[in-house]
Order: sequence, then structure tokens, then C-alpha cells
Amino acid sequence: MPATVVIGTQWGDEGKGKVVDLLAADADLVVRFHGGNNAGHTLVVNGEKTVLNLVPAGVLHPGRVCVMGSGMVIDPDVLLGEVDALRARGYLADDRWLRVSEQAHLIMAYHRLIDRARERLRGAGNIGTTGRGIGPAYEDKMARTGIRVGDLFDEEGFREALARNVREKNGYLEALLDERPLSFEELYSCCEVHRERLRPFVADTGAEVRAALAAGQRVLLEGAQGTMLDIDHGTYPFVTSSNTLAGSAAAGAGLPPRLIGRVIGLTKAYTTRVGSGPFPTELANALGDRLRADGDEYGATTGRPRRCGWFDAVVVRNAVALSGIDGLALTKLDVLTGIDPLRVCVAYEIDGAHRDMPPGTLRAWTRIRPIYEELPGWRESLGQARSLDDLPGAARRYVERLSALVGAPVVLLSVGPQRDQTIRLGDVF
Ligand code: IMP
Repeated sequence: MPATVVIGTQWGDEGKGKVVDLLAADADLVVRFHGGNNAGHTLVVNGEKTVLNLVPAGVLHPGRVCVMGSGMVIDPDVLLGEVDALRARGYLADDRWLRVSEQAHLIMAYHRLIDRARERLRGAGNIGTTGRGIGPAYEDKMARTGIRVGDLFDEEGFREALARNVREKNGYLEALLDERPLSFEELYSCCEVHRERLRPFVADTGAEVRAALAAGQRVLLEGAQGTMLDIDHGTYPFVTSSNTLAGSAAAGAGLPPRLIGRVIGLTKAYTTRVGSGPFPTELANALGDRLRADGDEYGATTGRPRRCGWFDAVVVRNAVALSGIDGLALTKLDVLTGIDPLRVCVAYEIDGAHRDMPPGTLRAWTRIRPIYEELPGWRESLGQARSLDDLPGAARRYVERLSALVGAPVVLLSVGPQRDQTIRLGDVF
């Protein structure tokens, strides 16, 4: 049984929490393969809201094994806080239900400090990062100076690596970022506590995922952020520091690409973005405010208001092409109730030239003129719909048009935050 990967097709916040939670009911393992606690996945189960930043969104199904893969960057304080909060509510009752890759990189206090200080110094030109140290941790990984989860258990080697890093970061923090240096001893003693608390979870997770697949188990690979935040293919430099495409799931989880059978693209029925950077269909007006209010569009991680705008078919078409998306999980269709007419961006015009796909440079991104098509809206609320036939005709036509414009079928439709506010239209595994 090959694995299924779920990724975001826009700028993140497409509703991965709800959809991964839903699909996890049919999975044995749920694996996150990149990113860190910049992600915020919101789940509403029996009216109770849970926000997960690190632990995979399968955790609310007891018995599912939640795996944090080698492609992730992990802040141990945040992870252990999340584990404690989940345990206090009766989840994660068995240590074997959480597996943490020994090859994932650790986010240290200096990474958070550097992230925030750099953003402060960038002023108005900032990226709008989540300030969680994600970029600086991935920088160290690529520079081959990072410290990995498994290194915690080689006490002598860990001490040396931490001392080297603290020396170097303190020089940088003081000389260039105008920050106070960190104490090595304080950092080291925190890490000693982390080592003992993380010990039961740490594993060669790639081997475990491959063994599960070989044994015929169902594996769901959970992406974070979205295609337009991909470090290579997004709106660089206004992106995150990892690859967010389906293609990175194999490396980040530790499995051969041919064992990925299906790719599901999470897509919101309109567009949002949090942080700075290009957003051609942004509605910086009362309609954008209305989408934000009706869709509760505030960052799950930072609480920042999300920028809102019309559906951009160019962005999602590109995600379908880049990740080979087999089916879309279309979310938040209910939020569009009462907006009439609706607009959808079908193509871009850049300096007079028509484009069906996004440009590759920031300069071109800033020159986009969206080409819109208008579609009729509907007035009925959709929260009770459980099949396509329950939807008003205009809502059905909106879904069909989006699917045709981006070139992928809709396999799942979400009409509210609860698990049962979902219409299943096709297979996911
Ligand atoms: P970083 O990942 O914290 O470095 O932030 C880089 C950019 O990605 C910023 O614009 C963030 O707002 C955005 N970002 C990071 N993670 C998420 C996410 O999970 N959802 C939406 N935007 C995100």
C-alpha cells in the first residue's frame, strides 16, 4: 500500500489540521516531513479546538503512530509542551505513538534570537517570519554546523558542538545584531532535561516508516505551509526555509519516492497569506475584512491577521503541476456564502503578456495584473451540506469551475470546521 501525501497548494493555512485529522482515521502512521513550529494546524473535534504546531495531526486518534521525520526542525521546549498538553487531555497515552527522528535538527535559543533580531533590523522590508527560529535552524543544517536530535545522546560530542555553536552565535549576536550573548551553561542544562524527556520517542523513523509500508500499513505524509512558501518555487525571498512540495516528502520522511501513491492538495476556496510578500488577488478592503472575520483568518501560530483575497487559479494550477496533485481537498467553501458575484483569477498579465503560470522572479511578481472571471454567488449557508446535491447550484458550479481551471478533481469538500462538515467525493488512499 503506497503512502498518500497531503500538501498545501497556496500560502499555507489551507486547513491541513482538519483534513489530516479526518484522513488519519484511515491511517496507521501520520508523518510530518518538513518545517517546525512555524506551522499551526487547527483541529476541532466535538466542539473542542486543538492547535498543533509540531505533533502530526493524527494524534487525536488514539493508536495512530505520529512520526516527526528527519526533514523537520524541532524546538524541544515547544514539542515537550505540546506533549504535556496533549497528555493532560488523555491523548498520547502510549510513548510508542510518538516517534521523533534522530536526524531532525534542533532549534536552539540562538536560532529564535537571530530570527527575531534580523526581522527587527529589516524593518519595513521584513519577511514577516513566525519568529520561531526556523530559517536560522535550516541555515545551520545546510552549513553542516547544526545539532541533531540524536546528538543529544552523545554527551561529549554534544557538549563540544554546542560550545562551538554558542561561541560563534554569540559573536554574531553581539557584533551584528545588537543582542546580548547567551550562557552556554544555561543552554546546556536545558538540553540535559530535554535529552531525558525526549529519550522514549527518539528513533530511526525512516526505517520505521519503510517497515510500516512493507507490512502493508497505511501511511499519511503531512506537509506544512504551502507551495507558494516553498524555498525554491515560492515567492522568494518571502518564503519559508524548507521545500513544501510533495517531492520533498520522500527525503523528509525517509522513503523512496515510488512509494508515494497519491498526492492530495489542500486548497482554500479563496486565498490567504500571512506575512509579507506578493499576493496578486489580495483584497485590502472591506470585502477582505469580511473574509477574515467570516473565515476566522488569524494565524494559528502567531495570531496575526491573515491577508485575504480572491481564489487564484494560477497559484493552485502551479501547485498541481509541481506536486502532481491527484485530488484537491477544497476547504472553507461555506465562508463564501453571501458574496455575490464571486471573482476568480484565471491568469496573470505581466507587462502586457498573458501567463497561465506564475513568474520566477520577485520583480515580475510585483508587476502582475490578475485577470478575473466572475461567477454567481449563493446566499444559503452550507454547514449542513453532506453531499454535492445538498449544495446550491451556484456553489456546485463554483467548485466545478475551480477544479477545471486548476486541472485536478475535488476529492473532498469541507463546509465547516467539524469533522462531519465534510463531503467525500473520491478516494484518498
Ligand atoms: P518562517 O517559516 O517562520 O521563516 O516564516 C517565513 C514565511 O512563511 C512568513 O511569511 C510566515 O508567515 C510564513 N509561514 C510559515 N509557516 C507558515 C504556516 O504554517 N502557514 C502560513 N504561513 C506560514
